[in-house]
Amino acid sequence: MMKRFFYSLLLTLVTIPAIADEGMWLPVLIQQRIVDMQENGFKLTAEDLYSVNQASLKDAIVHFNGGCTGEIISDQGLLITNHHCGYSAIQSHSSLEHDYLKDGFWAMSLDEELPNKGLWVAFLVRMEDVTDKVLAGYNESMTEAQRDSIVKSNSATLINKAKAEGKSYKASVESMYYGNQYFLFIYQVYNDVRLVGAPPSSIGKFGGDTDNWMWPRHTGDFSLFRVYADKNNDPAEYSKDNVPYKPKRHFTISSKGVKEGDFTLVYGFPGRTQEYLYSDAVKYISDISNPHKINLRTLRLDAQKKYMDQDRKVRIQYSSKNASVSNSWKKWQGEMGGIIKLDAYEKKVAFEKEFAQWAADKPEYNTLLDSFKEIYTALEPYSFARDYYNESIRVNEIISFASSLMTAKKREIDAAPIIENFFKNYYQPIDYESFIALLSEYDKNVPADFKPQYYKDNIAKFGSPKAWVDYIFENSALLTPESAQSLFASDSLEADPACQFSSEMAKYNSQEVLSVIRDYESQLQLLYRAYMRGQMEFCEDKVFYPDANSTLRIAYGKIRGYSPADGVYYKPSSTIEGIMQKDNPEIFDYDIPQALRDIYASKDYGKWVSDAEGSVPVCFIATNHTSGGNSGSPVIDAEGRLIGINFDRVWEGTMSDVIYDADICRNISLDIRYALFIIDRLGGASHLIDEMTIE
Ligand code: ARG
Ligand code: GLU
Repeated sequence: MMKRFFYSLLLTLVTIPAIADEGMWLPVLIQQRIVDMQENGFKLTAEDLYSVNQASLKDAIVHFNGGCTGEIISDQGLLITNHHCGYSAIQSHSSLEHDYLKDGFWAMSLDEELPNKGLWVAFLVRMEDVTDKVLAGYNESMTEAQRDSIVKSNSATLINKAKAEGKSYKASVESMYYGNQYFLFIYQVYNDVRLVGAPPSSIGKFGGDTDNWMWPRHTGDFSLFRVYADKNNDPAEYSKDNVPYKPKRHFTISSKGVKEGDFTLVYGFPGRTQEYLYSDAVKYISDISNPHKINLRTLRLDAQKKYMDQDRKVRIQYSSKNASVSNSWKKWQGEMGGIIKLDAYEKKVAFEKEFAQWAADKPEYNTLLDSFKEIYTALEPYSFARDYYNESIRVNEIISFASSLMTAKKREIDAAPIIENFFKNYYQPIDYESFIALLSEYDKNVPADFKPQYYKDNIAKFGSPKAWVDYIFENSALLTPESAQSLFASDSLEADPACQFSSEMAKYNSQEVLSVIRDYESQLQLLYRAYMRGQMEFCEDKVFYPDANSTLRIAYGKIRGYSPADGVYYKPSSTIEGIMQKDNPEIFDYDIPQALRDIYASKDYGKWVSDAEGSVPVCFIATNHTSGGNSGSPVIDAEGRLIGINFDRVWEGTMSDVIYDADICRNISLDIRYALFIIDRLGGASHLIDEMTIE
């Protein structure tokens, strides 16, 4: 008894310091955290954050096009998110004549706001625990497959019912804690979302991929949109007659600023984390998967950079592609380093040892760890083959183009827009060089047992990856819009060498690799479900949060600097002084607009200068536990006022998707005052500022 008491005391002591920072909590259950949040400075109630009875802050937040978060900042549906979240919309309106990516864009009136086909935002109507309903009809004696089919059919019923509740409703049932709990999420989707403003990339992407994932940071990573609705404020397809959406709630903006130690809260849609992995899976990430994927992307980036540096048109064409290739490339480097530096694998092993002792007399749990070991050992070579397929085969542009044409043919879809889109942003020498480099790596690193016969036959016939790629580029009809169009119309699409390569490699991957992975993963799912329950019983004093799964979450913490290495300490905020220090017309990533230099020289900052800093604040870091998808998320202060827009993490802390460490994991936010400064002083769009509620 006594021993038990001391043990739990120890656990409490060990876990409490992390509790204030680690975790992505479900808004509907935030009541469970509110005391801790208030002890850390938060002044609002759980109902202020999430309520179904009254307007709450969740009503001002949207899932932005599925991959980012955005928030409403005026009673006229004005929305702010990151520049990189609006990037493809901004790019799609850009050309050499109107280069909004380069020069920025500011709509001076509602008529100038630009519609975006395919762009949507979703407001969360409500979420609810539906575990009992989802598992109705299930009993322990059933197989996992039977359970799956019950979960699927019950979920479908719940989803259909929810969708019928309102106009343009969308719903989903999401599993939490590996299927120990299920929640229903109901959203209302608006799809007339127009571009209102974007700074030039030299501000919105200042520092580019050089500074990406890094601190100190000076990126003005924001863009503005507006949600439109029909006359009844309901969602509607784009129409000239639509009017600005009247939100239930919008954020009040604080111009007071923040300082080290202040409470911060991030409210958004983190995509995916894996905090409860078995040790071997963590080791696979840091020692095998990430190093290989990083190498493959380095080769692609090198090919892109070579031609982007030579030609402005190519730079525009590849800017979005290049940013997305480089983004994970850099993140994986930090993640791998962080896992190793934190001894994450060794820590997991030590925890598993303790767990095994505790579980020794519990039949429900005592075979789990051995089963994990066995499955991961068998799974690993398949995961490796899948990683190579994804990063060295499928990604070749001509190959993914071939694949989308074949899909269009099967579904009898018009290929013209696909072809047009592809060639708008295609530069053959990049694809050609990168294809050779990637296929050579595939050839070298993927074991023979995991290569299709098709591959072996052809590599034998051509003699080398380069000769094979040469053959494809000399003989494929997919390399010009005209020949692609006529090939599509003919009966011989599938016979084209690029199509053949695409479909044969895809077939092998899906039939021989993914099918096996799927099988192992469903066994793992079952083990993790039990392991999750086991961990909860074993650490009964710890509050567990579910892994991120693109559902709305709350992460709270404090503004804090950090020490990335011995002898180095990073302050938690940056200012315009740092932009001027980095400014360099010779370096693309650091070449700011002349207008910003002029404003700096005149020190005419308007009201956006911070007294504490004596300068214009730009970015800040905090201990909020965030992930990909949290981009664009509102960052609020203790009173619930908007102080920043989340856009990144420090690269030394990107292992937080697997293991969080409050000493080093930091999210990076744009200080809202910098956005206001840019809109006002650089964009001259003070009418937008007038729309906002600023305290
Ligand atoms: N690292 C951030 C995220 O994961 C920002 C990415 C966009 N910026 C860039 N320089 N590529 O989305
Ligand atoms: N930039 C990321 C995004 O687009 C957020 C950074 C992160 O992964 O935390 O969601």
